[in-house]
Order: sequence, then C-alpha cells, then structure tokens
Amino acid sequence: MEKDVTIPEQAASSPEPLLRVEGLVKHFPIRKGVFGRQSAAVKAVDGIDFEVYPGETLGVVGESGCGKSTMGRLITRLIEPSGGKVEFDGRDITHLSMGKMRPMRRDIQMIFQDPYSSLNPRHTIGTIVSAPFRLQNVEPEGGLKNHVQELLQLVGLSPEHYNRYPHEFSGGQRQRIGIARALALRPKLVVADEPVSALDVSIQAQVVNLLDDLQDELGLTYVIIAHDLSVIRHVSDRIAVMYLGKIVELADRKALYSTPMHPYTTALMSAVPVPDPRRRGLKSERILLKGDVPSPISPPSGCRFHTRCWKATEICKTQEPPLIALKTGHQVACHHPENAPDQVPGQQVLAEAREAVELIAPAKPEASAEEPPESGATPTEDGTATPSEPAEDGAKE
Ligand SMILES: Nc1ncnc2c1ncn2[C@@H]1O[C@H](COP(=O)(O)OP(=O)(O)OP(=O)(O)O)[C@@H](O)[C@H]1O
Ligand code: SF4
Ligand SMILES: [Mg+2]
Repeated sequence: MEKDVTIPEQAASSPEPLLRVEGLVKHFPIRKGVFGRQSAAVKAVDGIDFEVYPGETLGVVGESGCGKSTMGRLITRLIEPSGGKVEFDGRDITHLSMGKMRPMRRDIQMIFQDPYSSLNPRHTIGTIVSAPFRLQNVEPEGGLKNHVQELLQLVGLSPEHYNRYPHEFSGGQRQRIGIARALALRPKLVVADEPVSALDVSIQAQVVNLLDDLQDELGLTYVIIAHDLSVIRHVSDRIAVMYLGKIVELADRKALYSTPMHPYTTALMSAVPVPDPRRRGLKSERILLKGDVPSPISPPSGCRFHTRCWKATEICKTQEPPLIALKTGHQVACHHPENAPDQVPGQQVLAEAREAVELIAPAKPEASAEEPPESGATPTEDGTATPSEPAEDGAKE
C-alpha cells in the first residue's frame, strides 16, 4: 500500500511535530598529554535542524562516519548534546538528567544495528523482552509472561521462545527480539539505527516489512538510519541526507528520488541499482566521487562537500550554504543546486572540481532495442551532471 506523507499533509493533519531538533551539535573532545587537555574535537554532528511528525518515517542516510548514529543517540538522549535543542512531544528534553529521562524512555525507544551484541547472552528471551516493564514498574494486564508472549507473536516469533537464549536464534530472529523489546511499552517514537544492515539480504526485506506492518498496527513514528539508499527508499516518507555532521538535503521521498537537488544526493542516487532489468538502460552514468570523506575533526571551509563536488565554485570554498526550502517541503544546502535555480549565478566552476568525479557507464540493458535511448550525465561547462532515475518506484507499498 502506497503511503504518501508529505510535510504539508503532515502539518495539516498534525500541526505539532512529535520531535523537533534545533541546531543540534555533538563534538567529541580529543584529549592529549598527561593532563588530558582538549586539543581538538570530532565534530560528529554540527548543527542540524529537523522535525518528525506523528506517524511518519524519516529516513536518515549518508556515508559512514557522517554522524548518523550520533544523531540517533542524541535524539534518544543516550548521549548529552554539546549544543542545540531536542524537543519531544512539546517538551524540551535536551538536558534532562538520567532520572528525569527514565519516564520518557517509555515513549522513545531505539533499535540497534547489531542483533548479536545488543542481546545479553545470559538472559532468556522472556527476561530480555520483559526488562522494559520491570525497569518502568509496569504490570501489564493479563500478566507479564502472557504479554511478552503476545509481543513475541506480534514480531513473528513463537510464544515457546520465551525460555530460550539468544544464541539459539538466527540474526533475523534476534533482530525481531530487539524489536519486541523496543516496542514492549508501546513507544511513540522509535529510532532504528541500521536495523537490517547486519542481516543477510534475504532476511532484510522481512524485517523491513515487519517494521512497516508494526508502524501501521501500532501507529508508530520512526527515524530510520541507514547507509543503504535502497532500504531508506523502501521505508521512508521523508529523507534527510547527511554529510560530515550536517543535513545537506531534506525532502519528501518521491521528490528526493525524482529531483534530487544536492550534488551529493545526486551522486548517492546514481549508485543505487535499478531493480527492474527492463529499466536499467534508462539509468544514466554512475557518478563516482573520487576524493575521500574529509575528517570531521577539521571539516572543509564553506560547503563541506566542496572538496568532492564537480560543481564547486569560489563561493563554495568560503561561504557555507544554509539549508533552505527551494520548493515546498524540499530543503537543500547548496549554492548551485541541481533541479533548481542557481542560488549564486555567474560563478566559474573551479578547475579542480572537474576532476572530482568519474562517470561510469551503466550496465547494458538486457531488454530489446525498443527501449528508449539512455539519457547521459556528463559534467558540463556549468558543472551539471544530473542522472535520471526511473520515475516511479515500488517503495512504501
Ligand atoms: N564516542 C565517541 N568518541 C569520539 N568520536 C566519536 C564517538 N562516537 C562517534 N565518534 C566519531 O564521530 C563521527 C560520526 O560517527 P557516527 O558513528 O555517528 O557515524 P555514522 O554516520 O553512524 O557512521 P556508520 O555509517 O559507520 O555507522 C565519526 O568520525 C566517529 O569516529
Ligand atoms: S555546488 Fe557548491 S555549495 Fe553546492 S554542493 Fe557543490 S560545493 Fe557545495
Ligand atoms: Mg552508525
């Protein structure tokens, strides 16, 4: 079933976001010497703003080390922010103490990436899934054991698994146990950090579909973090793209896939395989970013992406582009966006920018010669290199 949540629709039906993040920062200090003086800091999250509306799924995507997990741990208040604000259900939770956060934990839960290390091997599944009830002093109607067994069934496990231990389960089953534990107290917000990336590809779809079904059944709101755009595409209503501690683009899923505006998003999209072999020939070249991701200890000046961007101009090196809405519900931080008017026209693309990407031709289509010709994507004089994506996708269905 297609689920089509856009910001205006969400805002119309539910004007108040469940989660509001403003200028959120997390710098991890690097200490040196015998006195442990701070010599530098890892700018893991460096000023991000976004909102999450009730019932929607916000997907967060970006390369390894861009700050996704740190962001997830900040909004669930597992770590203390260095700056900015986190508001949950209208309440400022930015600096709540552990004790004051405890009752909030009923409403905000996290699902972790590794289903192996996140379950205590010495505890039975019953003990693991009933832990949130004991921590919160909650006695469910009908008794704890019955309730936990119902939860196990809800996530596709058997009530008989209650007395078994984690090592007796496969990765996919363990992730289901982690999901049962996270959903035990019927939270309002679930933050899932790479919930399927440790699983076999064949199992990933089952767990993704389970998360989708549970969202409908329990009215959950999700923030789902993944580096894999195929997973993000499947689960998200809106998507935030992160690069080096910043959100560089935030848009409705369809808009992001059909008309990405940030060059970084364009490059990420161009690498996503097209599942339908008949449509593979429609995909243009893959844009391969050549440079390494710079260090978050000393990120590049101006636009952080300028060292890898084929459109970079002088202003990109000096002025950081703000994240602004160039269309309703479509925010981007770029001086020279794709699929939108140039924000600073008349600038010359830097000579080094032309070397920033390599274009890889798409795989030859297996289908007949009747297919339409490929639409190319080459960095041109003005730096444009927009790959075309198939118009419709089967995500969120
Ligand atoms: N506790 C910590 N102390 C110091 N640096 C940290 C800490 N946690 C994360 N970092 C650093 O912060 C940056 C962002 O890390 P984070 O784990 O949030 O990235 P990520 O986007 O989740 O990456 P991945 O896709 O690999 O999981 C990295 O450079 C990481 O090394
Ligand atoms: S065009 Fe400039 S501002 Fe936009 S992503 Fe490239 S370097 Fe950044
Ligand atoms: Mg991570």
